[in-house]
Amino acid sequence: MEKYIGTGASRIDGRAKVTGAAKYAAEFNTPGLAHGFVVTSSIAKGHIVTIDASAALRMAGVLDVLSHENRPSMALNDDAYGDDAAPKGSPFRPLYDDRVVFSGQPVALVLAEEAEIARYAASLVRVEYEQEPHATDLSGPHEDVVLVPTDQPPESIFGPQHPRGDALAAFAAAAVRHAGEYSTPIEHHNPMELFATTVVWEGARKLTVHDKTQGVQNVQRYVCSVFELASEDVRVTSAYMGGGFGIGLRPQYQVVLAVLGALALERSVRVVLTRQQMYGLGYRPAMIQKIELGATREGTLDAIAHDAVTVTSQYEDFYRQETGWSGLLYKSPNALYQHRLARLDLPTSCDMRCPSAATALFALESAMDELAVTLELDPLELRRRCYSDRDQHGNRPYSSKNLHACYEQGAEAFGWAKRSPAPRSMREGKELVGWGMGTGIWEALQVPISVRIVLSANGHAEVSSAASDIGTGTYTIMAQVAADMLGLPIESISVRLGDSTLPQSPLEGGSWLAASVSNGIVTTAQAIREEVLRLASAMPDSPLAGLGTDEVELADGRLVSKRDGSRGVSISDAMRHGGVERIDQLKTTKFDDDYSKAHNAHAAVFAEVKVDEELGVIRVTRVVSAVAGGRILNAKTAHSQIMGAVVWGIGMALHEQTVLDHRFGRVMNADLAEYALPVNADVHDVKVIFVEEQDATINGLGVKGLGEIGIVGVAAAIANAVYHATGTRVRDLPITLDKLIRTDQQIAQSSTSQ
Ligand code: MOS
Repeated sequence: MEKYIGTGASRIDGRAKVTGAAKYAAEFNTPGLAHGFVVTSSIAKGHIVTIDASAALRMAGVLDVLSHENRPSMALNDDAYGDDAAPKGSPFRPLYDDRVVFSGQPVALVLAEEAEIARYAASLVRVEYEQEPHATDLSGPHEDVVLVPTDQPPESIFGPQHPRGDALAAFAAAAVRHAGEYSTPIEHHNPMELFATTVVWEGARKLTVHDKTQGVQNVQRYVCSVFELASEDVRVTSAYMGGGFGIGLRPQYQVVLAVLGALALERSVRVVLTRQQMYGLGYRPAMIQKIELGATREGTLDAIAHDAVTVTSQYEDFYRQETGWSGLLYKSPNALYQHRLARLDLPTSCDMRCPSAATALFALESAMDELAVTLELDPLELRRRCYSDRDQHGNRPYSSKNLHACYEQGAEAFGWAKRSPAPRSMREGKELVGWGMGTGIWEALQVPISVRIVLSANGHAEVSSAASDIGTGTYTIMAQVAADMLGLPIESISVRLGDSTLPQSPLEGGSWLAASVSNGIVTTAQAIREEVLRLASAMPDSPLAGLGTDEVELADGRLVSKRDGSRGVSISDAMRHGGVERIDQLKTTKFDDDYSKAHNAHAAVFAEVKVDEELGVIRVTRVVSAVAGGRILNAKTAHSQIMGAVVWGIGMALHEQTVLDHRFGRVMNADLAEYALPVNADVHDVKVIFVEEQDATINGLGVKGLGEIGIVGVAAAIANAVYHATGTRVRDLPITLDKLIRTDQQIAQSSTSQ
């Protein structure tokens, strides 16, 4: 019987968070804690010639200054630096040698008794470099940028993508064509919590590592291999995270530096990055995408071609399937993809909320809007005509796809039917009003996971797994599912996460954890039920004697017959009778992914913008996001996920961009003052709708995951609304007001010269 799944249960960790009881990586204190501050490179490429730390070392309270010249030993081979999210290549090794491969790279670590002393002393460290020419500009001179074709089809966790038909010929022959180039900048993750690690020296090279990460076991294996430490000597925890968004999927360099410091001093060490230093980690790669669409006059597609160039470092090839989403989403007999990488003198790019789909769908959904304009067709009607009931890559059915309902319910809630089609035809005072829409798609992934449940005779259960809760509400949905599966009140469930000694868990990412861990709980709870049944059946005159596991359920602290709820035994009676204080079960759940069905979550996003005609200022006054994400485990946290993603979509459309000074290969806006993010004043009316979507085959609970789908389609919906408001098509994010004003002047000039 389900009492909690689907409800808006409040976060079970909410109280701990608002009272400060929840500890984050930089908040663990321990006697003798030393503090590290990172010195970063001021050049983008070259070699360190000398490091003069003498002035820093003379300061009272400074304990040591570590660099490649004097650090404790680290592994020699590349394999040791790999991790669960590492792309192909040669992973970056912090403080390993004299090579500088990006600006902002850590080159030294100052260790001191106080954080402030370490920080000041770091400013006294003098580093001399031998510089080499660098390239950081994706759109720079061609000879500076090496373009590398990625494997076709890419080795991707997202499954196969194959070109089909003859897209170029179909495009050339199409009655209606659209071709456009769309660009998106580098974006940084900017979680509220800074990256930090506190290493507790437990003596004799035994370490407890409190790290900010989306994967404690990933970091544990990495630290053990990089420092050749015994697995039992390293424990990594990350019980709470102030935002991850993908930047915590891979171990970040502060964990290496903190461990180096601890090993060098044989003391506990904390390293906290500054906001500025966070811009020396990974980022969403800048992209240039070309989309070609060939269509019939009736608004069906003949051809889709998608060409993408995305940014990576010189030492690792990070990419996702940017191009593949185009051929997947809409019905088209012909599709062609080309994906190349620009290797630049930057850190390796990485996953950021809905990697590849967030950017690819900006391009595709802008292009679809442009095609709708050419066809003089309502943009929503074009989506309906191109709707695909089968995954176009593999001609597979979907396990479920209720995107139709997203379109219908989203349009209804938004009032889309009242849209006046012509650009610049809607106005309110001195503001132009525009309505735009876009589609979202994401893969509904799930990965093997182990879950342990310990049920006590007093009616309490502890559920644990080494997973992380990166702020999405994992603790809460786990408690809800466990409470329902064990038939206990939610208050009787405690959840433990974020500790490498707990049962095996994958990284928290890809929107796969909710589906994986909730079904993992179902599996383990079933084993608990079997054990309770065994004990209950052994009682004299047991009302459950002879019943099978599938014929009983746990409800209200009892094991009862499903058919006749009056036949039952209390859990505590069964356990006491059997002389058992605890029932302890640990099970691993695997998901049968044979690719016979496509698993995707979908969304339809409708946006209203108001644009000041004279100043070009854009306000996103309304957004409706209608999501088909399978079964919703928690109405409240699910709503928050989509709400947060919509806010990020507003940022992506209008604000966010990492700006480099290419002369130095250096980020110029490395802080929250200069890197513009949406704030409360930028967010107005956001409505989230979850459409009913039952999925009987994806997994037992029918869950798809929601962490990422909410951002996809938002930027395109806003860009399309800006076009509808102003008649100006901006294909280059973010849509800052200068792009509207400049284009207006160009329009004015071209009209006067005619
Ligand atoms: Mo997500 S970008 O896999 O944290």
